[in-house]
Amino acid sequence: TVDERVEDLLSRMTLPEKVGQMLQLDARGDIKEIVADKLAGSILHASPRTMLEAIGLAARTRLGIPLLTAEDCIHGHSFWPGATIFPTQLALACTFDAALVERVARVTAVEVAATGIHWTFSPVLCVTRDLRWGRVGETFGEDPYLIGELGSAMVRGYQGAGLSDPTAILATAKHFAGYSETQGGRDASEADLSPRKLRSWFLPPFERVAREGVRTFMLGYQSMDGVPITANRWLLNDVLKQEWGFTGTLVTDWDNVGRMVWEQRVCADQTEAAAVAVRAGNDLIMTTPDFGTGAQAAVAAGLLAETEIDAAVRRILRLKFELGLFENPRAPDAGRQAAVIGAPEHAALNLEVARRGLVLLRNDGLLPLAPSTPRTVAVLGPNADDPHAQLGDWAGASGQVDWMPDGHPRELIETVLDGFRAVAPGDWTITHARGADIERLVPDPEGPLYPDGQPRPPLSRPAPADPALIAEAVAAAHAADVAVVVLGDTVALTGEACSTATLELQGGQIALLDALAATGTPTVLVLINSKPAALPDSALRCAAVIQAFNPGMRGGRAVAELVLGHIEPTGRLPVSVARHVGQQPVFYNQIRGQHGNRYADLTQDPLFVFGEGLSYSTVEYDGLAIERPRVGVPDVVRATVRLTNTGGRPATETVQAYVRDLVTSVTWADLELKAYRQVRVAPGESVTVEVEVAAADCTLVTADGRRIVEPGDFELLVGRSSRRDDLLAARFSIT
Ligand code: IFM
Repeated sequence: TVDERVEDLLSRMTLPEKVGQMLQLDARGDIKEIVADKLAGSILHASPRTMLEAIGLAARTRLGIPLLTAEDCIHGHSFWPGATIFPTQLALACTFDAALVERVARVTAVEVAATGIHWTFSPVLCVTRDLRWGRVGETFGEDPYLIGELGSAMVRGYQGAGLSDPTAILATAKHFAGYSETQGGRDASEADLSPRKLRSWFLPPFERVAREGVRTFMLGYQSMDGVPITANRWLLNDVLKQEWGFTGTLVTDWDNVGRMVWEQRVCADQTEAAAVAVRAGNDLIMTTPDFGTGAQAAVAAGLLAETEIDAAVRRILRLKFELGLFENPRAPDAGRQAAVIGAPEHAALNLEVARRGLVLLRNDGLLPLAPSTPRTVAVLGPNADDPHAQLGDWAGASGQVDWMPDGHPRELIETVLDGFRAVAPGDWTITHARGADIERLVPDPEGPLYPDGQPRPPLSRPAPADPALIAEAVAAAHAADVAVVVLGDTVALTGEACSTATLELQGGQIALLDALAATGTPTVLVLINSKPAALPDSALRCAAVIQAFNPGMRGGRAVAELVLGHIEPTGRLPVSVARHVGQQPVFYNQIRGQHGNRYADLTQDPLFVFGEGLSYSTVEYDGLAIERPRVGVPDVVRATVRLTNTGGRPATETVQAYVRDLVTSVTWADLELKAYRQVRVAPGESVTVEVEVAAADCTLVTADGRRIVEPGDFELLVGRSSRRDDLLAARFSIT
């Protein structure tokens, strides 16, 4: 059995071999030192050549224990030229479609497995709070239920039929937990969370995937109430392993163990840090090269028992045996790569998912553009033809791995400009001007990095508005019947360690939009950005607004198809769009407030709410009826609602069911999403949709931290978004 094989191997390992297995090192270093000297059990960020070399080196170590290889393939195989790069998680979440997300993850696994990678650091299950945080685009948005639905779908897709399946890869639930509860949006700042708040909002998606069989968890960087996550035995052991029964493997984030010494300063040296990390329940220690010597010193000093190291090593070896690496190290396979990387059916799925995720936020009737008259369309803006901005973070464009020279082949990426050129009627004219820059490179003021005087690489900073670029775009808009202006952010201004103090469109973009609004040319604003921006007034003078986030390789084509009415808008916002940075955080499921819980100078309501998104038709909701208004646990609250398409085009509605617990023993969210259904309604058609909410899901977390159902009266609210006016209400009670 696997257990017997693990015990047999463990019994033959020396202490240096055991602590070596716990190391996950950056393969961009000296690979011989990493594998042959430090005996690392796992590597990440390996180029194809390094990977082959590393596999060979591991095979020649005393026990020949195979390597576990890992990569951040979080929306497709980020770092493989020609691989299918899907929309980012936030863009995927706009589909509200778990089955589609599962297919995306399955395709990713097939492509990733062919390149010799066993493990992807995905999905991100962090709950978006402050939009200034640089990693909002990596999340599924702000709702724990939606995150759990889509996150578990992604895990199923990656892990496939089970680890022995050669196309299965390990999924990672990250970043455990509370990492997104930043201070002022700043990445990795201390999370101000009580265990009760953690259990209320941040843990549920993690618990769900743990119980559904995700094989690994990655820790957050931050600390909570004075304790680095890396040292948090309560979270890692008591909650994750004991309470939820997780038997898989943990990996720290980048140098979390070292950071306890040199950043957080809660450990005096690497010896103490190693002991603290192992004691807390960590298994693989990412990119802390001194962990091996630190752990051995900790054992020698009596700070750590070798049996504690053994427990971690067992969990690592178990993964390797279950993946079958001892029989087949799953090396890169050129034949399979040729067959699957960027396969046509993967590209077709990529287009399908991009189409499904576009969110139409505003439309005064301009869209869809009528095909009848020959037209000139000016496709403007810095993100109209920028492949990197369209793909977003973790797509090989931002130097996260330096072995990939040029990112993904340009011809595989269809920008919005490419999309219009490809799908607009042949007698239309498509013009283009960039209009503004978002960023520019400036010298790093901190001076040389090393004593040899070599300067640090330049920094990206917002660019000033350029009157010449704006004038060119304005001229193009004047000469056009319609302007499509594509604005947003760039990879360099978002992401890990790259939060923003403001939410505004950066660089020359606001000046550009103001100038375009003054032309009077009907304008469609398309937002290609990692996360919601606080829009200027001129954005609200645009005839239509489409939120695309980072829509993947084929996203530009999907945008053009939507503008031209070849497809229907179906996406819904998984995250609120703030009016102003000062509203942060602005998520919909806020704790019920009191009389003073508002601003004197601005409404506290976001500009666009969670769940919002238009179609090209109008759909009326009526007749909400609950089948049995008194239920017990484990009964189900079953309700029906009628949808009538009163417009002229088909619509795909995401019928959302929220629950309000009317009186609670502790303050609680006023509204929580509990279920949703997607339904297509033809013009003139009425359909009755059934929604179900399990009474057992109508929970809250008590003052002493227990998640329970409190019997009493509730409201079921069903409608097209979380906006109060969009919801029909019916009462039920739980006995
Ligand atoms: O997986 C990532 C994580 O999300 C952030 N820090 C680095 C890790 C490995 O690249």
